[in-house]
Amino acid sequence: MKKRVLFVCLGNICRSPAAEGIFIKMVQDAGLQDVIHIDSAGTGGWHVGDGPDNRMIRHAKQRGYDLSQLEARQFSSPDDFHNFDYILTMDNSNYRNVTSLDVKKEHHHKVKLMTSFCRVHKIGEVPDPYYKEDEGFEHVLDLLEDACTELLNHIKTELGRS
Ligand code: 4NP
Repeated sequence: MKKRVLFVCLGNICRSPAAEGIFIKMVQDAGLQDVIHIDSAGTGGWHVGDGPDNRMIRHAKQRGYDLSQLEARQFSSPDDFHNFDYILTMDNSNYRNVTSLDVKKEHHHKVKLMTSFCRVHKIGEVPDPYYKEDEGFEHVLDLLEDACTELLNHIKTELGRS
């Protein structure tokens, strides 16, 4: 059975598309692209149809991740709850916004904080880099690489492919 992963932030132009681009590359490198489906979304709708923030595209590219083809969309309930096995939010506000849409609490078990997968960094949230300088974007990428590494290990085990 295919595993379906949705990364969620506020605008879907900085953190969650970066997570998507990083995880796409890791999954491809592991040869698992046919069994792991990956997408991202924002809880807000202001940037729907936009590409990722140019600063995030540039920083990600320096690490070998191509975000240039991604396009922002808004998280949609109930479809996204049904269509994904893992819904990984970047911060506590995203977590609250997503879980508040699951009124009957049927899908709460799928919603997790991205940082819960971090093994190197001890931090509670992936901070919004929108109003930050270059180091803010690099910090986000450090956290996302850490979390994506463990997420892939976790899913590989579930798939019996570790
Ligand atoms: P993201 O960052 O949630 O990581 O995509 C943001 C991008 C844009 C806005 C907020 C956060 N905004 O308010 O426009």
